[in-house]
Amino acid sequence: MIKVEVKSIFKSFERPDGKLKVLEDVSIVLNENEFVSILGPSGCGKSTLLRAVAGLLEIDKGKISIDGEISYLRQNSSLMPWRNILENVLLPIEIQKRIKPQYTDELRESFSEFGLSGFEKSMPDEISGGMAKRAALLRTYLEDRNIMLLDEPFSSLDAITRKAMGRWLLEVWNKHRKSVLFVTHDIEEALLLSDRIYIMDNLPSKILETVVPAVGRPRNPESVYEKPFIEQRKHIEKLLI
Ligand SMILES: Nc1ncnc2c1ncn2[C@@H]1O[C@H](COP(=O)(O)OP(=O)(O)O)[C@@H](O)[C@H]1O
Ligand SMILES: [Mg+2]
Repeated sequence: MIKVEVKSIFKSFERPDGKLKVLEDVSIVLNENEFVSILGPSGCGKSTLLRAVAGLLEIDKGKISIDGEISYLRQNSSLMPWRNILENVLLPIEIQKRIKPQYTDELRESFSEFGLSGFEKSMPDEISGGMAKRAALLRTYLEDRNIMLLDEPFSSLDAITRKAMGRWLLEVWNKHRKSVLFVTHDIEEALLLSDRIYIMDNLPSKILETVVPAVGRPRNPESVYEKPFIEQRKHIEKLLI
């Protein structure tokens, strides 16, 4: 079943120095319980595409169909510094239900799965960058919509932590299977996590190529050392650099 269908969309912005064409004839599909990545260099229009899917941006031409409800983790979205981690994570539920939610066993389990047990009462500036990213992801996950849009959820982390987060997300996704549109500029992350990768070009961007990772599921962190994985990584690097 198709959850998101983007059909031949165009988007440009008016800038002081003229019209900036950003998306030019972009089409993508997200099926139910697929993990689909949009991969491309910085500034190629990935966030613009996600904002359009989230319905936050009017497109010039084309069509976007959505089947279901969206939860959306914006690029660089941060935690509120005056709320502790639990209060931050529960904020969307609090707003939806208009009451402060209880810390149920189910929530306790989610906190543990997201590596946040024991940090419920910590303030955002008392936890590591990786933890803060996991807390933001948990906040999006708990909104419990059937489509998740994740815009570079691991940006601005050091390379080692970022790899660890990718591996962790693979494990969590293997368990829960959601329909995810994932924006990244990290080739290895995309190949490890995705069912399909849309590779975007420089501006005005279109989909350069659609890649289906050669290493099948179930994947594990060791998959990145397999030959087909390395070959594909090389191929994508050549496309982009
Ligand atoms: N609201 C806007 N007004 C004008 N220009 C924009 C706006 N949003 C994005 N852009 C421009 O569109 C291009 C693509 O941006 P973006 O989608 O954020 O790229 P990415 O997420 O791939 O880094 C950039 O050149 C950016 O400056
Ligand atoms: Mg972006």
